[in-house]
Amino acid sequence: MIYSRIAGTGSFLPGDPVTNDDLVERGIPTSDQWIVERTGIRSRHLAPDGMNCSDLAFEASRRAIESAGVAPADIDLIIVATSTPDFIFPSSAALLQSKLGIRNAGAAFDVQAVCSGFAYALSIADKFIRSGSHQRALVVGAEVFSRILDWKDRGTCVLFGDGAGAVVVEAAEEPGILASAIHADGTYNPILCVPGTVAGGAVIGDPFLRMDGQAVFKFAVRVLGEVAQEVLDAAQLTTGDVEWLIPHQANIRILQATAKRLSIGMDRVITTVDQHGNTSAASIPLALDLAVRDGRIQRGNHVLLEGVGGGFTWGGVLLRY
Ligand code: UT7
Repeated sequence: MIYSRIAGTGSFLPGDPVTNDDLVERGIPTSDQWIVERTGIRSRHLAPDGMNCSDLAFEASRRAIESAGVAPADIDLIIVATSTPDFIFPSSAALLQSKLGIRNAGAAFDVQAVCSGFAYALSIADKFIRSGSHQRALVVGAEVFSRILDWKDRGTCVLFGDGAGAVVVEAAEEPGILASAIHADGTYNPILCVPGTVAGGAVIGDPFLRMDGQAVFKFAVRVLGEVAQEVLDAAQLTTGDVEWLIPHQANIRILQATAKRLSIGMDRVITTVDQHGNTSAASIPLALDLAVRDGRIQRGNHVLLEGVGGGFTWGGVLLRY
């Protein structure tokens, strides 16, 4: 039986932290108090002009490959979860493959599931590896959400940040990834979307992120609870077996509500939303890498990852690190 396991992690945040007060100084009609009370966010990182999704992905991937103790040439599958790719095409995964100096090896493609993207990509990589078709995958969440924010919309622009996280997933005799589940319900597409496109050399429609915050909040808490239970049931484990919960880092109140629903104390929840804001598909691998590197997540720990985002999409992955 072939399983998959995480062999290494890495992450990257661009530039210095931008605090809530920095946003006020830049003229956004908000306050540190409002943002902290409603979201728990204190700062975020914003990529400078010219730094794109594949650049962030490259830095995170370099670190993940190094921590896995492998060479780029050992990677035969690259999946980049992003909603803010460098170009319409080629994929950011193909650009990343080129930046890593990997030539003509395996497959490289992007996954577009917004804030659930990393859970989707990890679930896909697990299936590829368990099928025997691929041996070692680089799975990345990388976003430059600052490029799709309307900086005149204080209800959304204060919530998001840029960054990337990556893992190397490889074939193993012991699991690794114990269970995964991914879902979508496209009828909810209007509550979180960027409803614009490019045609005939022009932007058609609205190129900025739009959100019904309260509808998203309610939806997120419900499905995060459901998908967590689904993967626990599939692995025949309970929340008591989970050492670490890493939910998508959208809002501290969503994290708290999800943890409460699962009867998991906040001392077992990895939280980065205060420092990173919502980095969409990058938030889970960023938090994972942070907690691996600071020694909280140890080999053998059960870790439950779960994401929810535009589409609507949602997913969970339960693993033994
Ligand atoms: O990956 C999924 C990403 N999405 C999320 O996680 C969003 C989930 N939703 C939320 O976290 C919350 O709905 C928000 C934090 C986005 C908003 O909190 P809320 O309690 O739902 O606020 P609201 O949109 O109902 O707005 C309340 C007030 C409004 O003023 P009035 O009409 O009551 O005078 C807004 O204009 O807060 C005002 N407001 C702000 N004030 C200061 C909205 N944004 C800001 C702001 N600073 N940044």
